[in-house]
Amino acid sequence: TAAQKGGHDSFMAKEIHEQATAVADTLRGRIESGKLHLDEMSIDPSVLRSVDKIIVVACGTAANAGNVAKYAIEHWCRIPTEVELAHEFRYRDPIVTEKTLVVAISQSGETMDTLMAMRHAQEQGAKVVAICNTHGSTIPREADAALYLHVGPEIAVASTKAYLGQITACYLLGLYLAQVRGNLYPDEIAALMEDLDQLPAQVQRVLDDAEQVGDLARAMADVSSVLFLGRHVGYPTALEGALKLKEIAYIHAEGFAAGELKHGPIALVEEGQPVFVIVPSPRGRDSLHSKVVSNIQEVRARGARTLVIAEDGDDDVLPYSDVVLRVPATRTLFAPLLTVIPLQIFACELAAAKGLDVDQPRNLAKSVTVE
Ligand code: G6P
Repeated sequence: TAAQKGGHDSFMAKEIHEQATAVADTLRGRIESGKLHLDEMSIDPSVLRSVDKIIVVACGTAANAGNVAKYAIEHWCRIPTEVELAHEFRYRDPIVTEKTLVVAISQSGETMDTLMAMRHAQEQGAKVVAICNTHGSTIPREADAALYLHVGPEIAVASTKAYLGQITACYLLGLYLAQVRGNLYPDEIAALMEDLDQLPAQVQRVLDDAEQVGDLARAMADVSSVLFLGRHVGYPTALEGALKLKEIAYIHAEGFAAGELKHGPIALVEEGQPVFVIVPSPRGRDSLHSKVVSNIQEVRARGARTLVIAEDGDDDVLPYSDVVLRVPATRTLFAPLLTVIPLQIFACELAAAKGLDVDQPRNLAKSVTVE
């Protein structure tokens, strides 16, 4: 299996390093001369134009991808979008009509919770788009349309390249809806897709810095708790960073919305507490950047060790950061494809440094086919 791992110590490490290709594979053939081609969107455009609500159903990492999708779809398409853990969805008598579009995200396409949520929505007349990786699996077969990731088989239990593929596919879905419904001008869509096309090369640039993250993880192999803060699309990234660390390194980890810090979580911060902070772009139009920089300052003043993920050239973070991990500049909505990568590498390298089985974490299965 050493050969199958392509020189990496684990399938997870291999899959992390395949992510530039993964994003390119999800995009391939779907963008042509500034237009979006999603031939597999086999739901009638008139139905898509009548959609008045989107509900994303998913579990685990796929649900975190759905949380990124919400920000993009609401911004581009102005369709109210909810994200719900699939196992919570159908038991609370959710409001679903023929005008509801359900997006079921599942790497395996076999997660029972997600399948049952999707069937429940279909029974009320909703149309379902599946975003899946495994061809011919149950969820895309039963859905009204299926968008495949095309990222190749994911072997490690903890999802990495499928996560990037899921987010990329959600961007394509959002832009397609905006195109069909006329929410964005064709030249705006073309400009967005041009930037999206830069992402594989930018993902590769983050991967090229893996060594620095690996050194950090090995130096922190004995930590017992790590916090993750993010705001806007950095919030789902914080949740995903914490999930990875729990899943494979068995470390108590929690992700918080940075704005929530003062409403509770800051009480957790004591001397030496490691806190990852995902910083929004300083080029954003709003003041989120300075608010998150203040959060770094606040936790550091209380003794936290701050591990900061910030855009190239963002020097505002330097006075308050113990470690800065850099990502290339992109649009705010596309940043989740970059900022999560150091967090994946951190979890993978830390678990390996603890001598754990990175690919087969205890108590977890790659695909959970029972409710
Ligand atoms: C399991 C796996 C997770 C995965 C989740 C959803 O819990 O351990 O890594 O994120 O299922 O899987 P799916 O195949 O539906 O994306």
